[in-house]
Amino acid sequence: MGIALNIAEDWHAALAALTWQVEAGADEVMLDAPVNRYGLVAEAPKPPVAKAAPLPVTELQAPSDPVAAARATAGPATSLEALREAIARFDLCELKKGARNTVFADGNPQARVLILGEAPGAEEDREGRPFVGRAGQLLDRMFAAIGLSRTSPDAESALYITNVMPWRPPANRDPDPAEIAMMLPFIERHIALVDPQVIVAVGNTPLFALTGTKGILRARGNWGQALGKPLLPMTHPAYLLRNPAAKREAWADLLSLQARLR
Ligand code: URA
Repeated sequence: MGIALNIAEDWHAALAALTWQVEAGADEVMLDAPVNRYGLVAEAPKPPVAKAAPLPVTELQAPSDPVAAARATAGPATSLEALREAIARFDLCELKKGARNTVFADGNPQARVLILGEAPGAEEDREGRPFVGRAGQLLDRMFAAIGLSRTSPDAESALYITNVMPWRPPANRDPDPAEIAMMLPFIERHIALVDPQVIVAVGNTPLFALTGTKGILRARGNWGQALGKPLLPMTHPAYLLRNPAAKREAWADLLSLQARLR
C-alpha cells in the first residue's frame, strides 16, 4: 500500500506521521507527480567531480573523527557557560536532531557530589533540565534522605546533576557506544570544571562512559575511581521504580555516600 507524503511540519510531527503510516501498512513512498519507471534509464551519467581545494581543519570539518572534533570543541571551554555553548554548537551527534532541547545540567556547581545520569527522557527534553520526570522526583527524594539537594545553596548539602547525553535518544533507547564516546570529551570537561569530591554514576550508561564496563547490578555500591575522583555506581531511579525491592540496596549505597562525605 502507498500513502502520499506531504510533510512540511517539524521533525517530531514528521516522525509521528511516518510512524502512523508505517503502522497503517504503508510500504511505499508516493511522490506528488507520477513517475514512469519504464521510461527511466538504468543510471543517469554522473557529472565529473571537481577536485575540492583542501579545507582548513576546524572542528566542523572533522565528522570522520567525531571524538577528535568533540575534544577540540570541549577542550577550550574554561567555564560551565562556555561548555554549555560548546555543546549547543556541536552538531555531529545525530541525537541532537531529534531533541527539543539540549539538557545541560541542574543544581549547584559548588556541590561536593556530582550525579551523572544517562540521557534526558521526554519531560527533561521538554523542560531542558535533567531528572525532572518520575525518576527524577525519586532521585530527589533519595538524596534528600541523606540531606542532599540540587536546590541547596550550601556546597556541603548541594547536588550537581548532569547526564552522559545532553539529547534525548528516540523512544528512550540506550545511547550507543559511538554516541557515548563522542560525548565523553564534554563529560570529562564538565566534571573537571565542577571538580566535585565524589561522582555518583546512576545506571549502566554513566558506568560505561566513566569506566568502560557494564553491569550496574554487580557494580553498585562498590566504590571505584574515575577521572581521578571517587566513583560510586548506583542503580538508576527508573530501575528502582520498576523494581521497588532494589530500594533496600540503594539505601545502603546512599548511606555509604553519606559516610564518605563525613
Ligand atoms: N534519566 C536520566 O538518566 N537522566 C535524566 O535526565 C532523566 C532520566
